[in-house]
Amino acid sequence: MTDRRAVVRAATDADLDAVAAIYAREVRAGHATFDTEPPPRSVWEKKLGSAHPGDHFLVAAADGAVVGFAYSGPFRDRGAYDRTREVTVYLDPAATGRGLGRALYGELLPRLEVAGMRTVLACIALPNDASEGLHRACGFERQGVLREVGRKFDRWIDIAWWQRRLAG
Ligand SMILES: CC(C)(COP(=O)(O)OP(=O)(O)OC[C@H]1O[C@@H](n2cnc3c(N)ncnc32)[C@H](O)[C@@H]1OP(=O)(O)O)[C@@H](O)C(=O)NCCC(=O)NCCS
Repeated sequence: MTDRRAVVRAATDADLDAVAAIYAREVRAGHATFDTEPPPRSVWEKKLGSAHPGDHFLVAAADGAVVGFAYSGPFRDRGAYDRTREVTVYLDPAATGRGLGRALYGELLPRLEVAGMRTVLACIALPNDASEGLHRACGFERQGVLREVGRKFDRWIDIAWWQRRLAG
């Protein structure tokens, strides 16, 4: 069920500490990210400041507090990848399962299409039923699995690549 109190809007610099805190929790306690140390604030500032037309950074806020975020960025930096973007989405654990992931992508993906992007990719460390469910629900297709490319918490982790093609 969608959270009627929540809003999705473009991120600002004032949101970045909350964004960093949500991400840092997953770095320390989860395997959805392969980061093993929380990145410095400058990493978030760079994402927010990207001038590429396909790069967007959104937050979900409930009762005034940032509870999740999604952004698009480069898949690879070589020129021929210019109209391909990789997307990422994270919510505070207390904010999952109430439609906010779908709401964030509901705002993000149309922005990529308007910007002329052709392909959107998402990399999902397995298992992650919620993320695979979200991407399937948002029109992505599972394209393949790479086995044992990550190691975290003393175990090997597979990743799945999901793809959605846009009209751009
Ligand atoms: C993955 C994540 C962003 C999903 O967001 P969410 O707000 O919980 O998902 P939503 O409530 O918007 O659900 C979207 C769809 O995913 C499916 N889904 C959500 N949670 C699910 C679960 N645990 N198992 C299976 N499907 C699930 C729902 O069925 C829903 O489809 P529907 O709208 O047709 O019912 C969120 O759980 C999260 O932040 N998890 C931790 C970080 C993470 O894994 N990020 C992704 C990195 S690849």
